[in-house]
Amino acid sequence: MRRALIAGNWKMYKTLADVDAFAAAFAGAVEGVTGRAVVICPPFIYLERLAQAFKGTAIKVGAQNVYWEDQGAFTGEVSAPMLKSLGITFVIVGHSERRQYFGDTDTTVNKRVLAALKSALIPIVCVGETLEQREAGHTMSVIDTQVRLGLKGLSQEQAAGVIIAYEPVWAIGTGRTATPEIAQEVHAHIRGIIADLFGESIANNTPILYGGSVKPDNIDELMAKPDVDGALVGGASLEAASFERIVKFKG
Ligand code: 13P
Repeated sequence: MRRALIAGNWKMYKTLADVDAFAAAFAGAVEGVTGRAVVICPPFIYLERLAQAFKGTAIKVGAQNVYWEDQGAFTGEVSAPMLKSLGITFVIVGHSERRQYFGDTDTTVNKRVLAALKSALIPIVCVGETLEQREAGHTMSVIDTQVRLGLKGLSQEQAAGVIIAYEPVWAIGTGRTATPEIAQEVHAHIRGIIADLFGESIANNTPILYGGSVKPDNIDELMAKPDVDGALVGGASLEAASFERIVKFKG
């Protein structure tokens, strides 16, 4: 049985004062909420602040990226052991914005996934097709390549610690959510690839999140789909009230 997971990706938003205001408004939001895990991924500099603010609550904190070396002369980078030392649990890997603007490829995504797992972090591995790829009918093959290369070389045990996020690029920040049917179709495809790579049991236990214009008014219908195990939420995670409604999806 897969437990639902709702994760917020704050991207490059919020000043310190905004972070504190959010934490004050949101810390009590998940009290008594069962059957779902909640994670917020702020910019690196706020990780510890947010982790402290949510201490004693069920809210977990995650990073938005990780470098694959443990340490060294890599100015500006943050490693998995560093994140682990802050008590961080999750890390987003291979977000389409990293792929689009910062040169991430399936190969570097794979290195980050392996580094995260080595430090006992849970990677949330993002995959998704562009509009051009969808319109050309290449969605499933693009996803296939991203999943297989992103998870290349993982042992069964390591694969059991991975979360996948399906984020169609055309749905990110556009207000154009994938229909629940599209999400279900691609999620089932992803689960099939994982079954092929690591077996049915791991596939059945792998959480697959949907991301791309998730809002309070579409979360319920997305979560109603059997292979949609949660959401990776951008814009709507920035405001406590809307993220609370998403966390409290019905179903
Ligand atoms: P939006 O929810 O703003 O579309 O962003 C989705 C996303 O990229 C989450 O990682």
